[in-house]
Amino acid sequence: MQRLLIIHGPNLNLLGKRPVNVYGTLSLEEINKKIEEYAKKNNLKVKIIQSNNESEIIEIIQKAEEEFDGIIINPAGYTHTSVAIRDSIEAINIPVIEVHLSNIHAREEFRRKSMIAPVCEGQISGFGYKSYLLAIDYFLKRRD
Ligand code: DQA
Repeated sequence: MQRLLIIHGPNLNLLGKRPVNVYGTLSLEEINKKIEEYAKKNNLKVKIIQSNNESEIIEIIQKAEEEFDGIIINPAGYTHTSVAIRDSIEAINIPVIEVHLSNIHAREEFRRKSMIAPVCEGQISGFGYKSYLLAIDYFLKRRD
């Protein structure tokens, strides 16, 4: 059974309150329920964490390969700024997929650049909470 770590970055705990035309109406709790149900249906083990703290995210990434086969991360605002999160992903030996609820390439100029994507296997952006489910699909098919 594959074990995946899902990391939600800063301010994603406020989903539901953040602009719903950009991020949708679901709360983080509701999204997590959908992820957990989808993982269960597909025989995957998932652990989900949310953190507003860059150093905490880095420490979680550094330890992830002891326990997990892959990471799905929505680095949120840190996508566009964090060389340190990028370096931690580059240093580990498990696959990482970057996801976004919104299509970052269709938004403000500053969101179009991801520090993180070049050290990930790929990026899934713009499909609302389904971005996470599509990333799970990738892990299910990764070894085909
Ligand atoms: C986001 C996009 C980021 O630009 C933004 O800072 C977020 C959420 C998304 O999921 O669409 O907080 O990562």
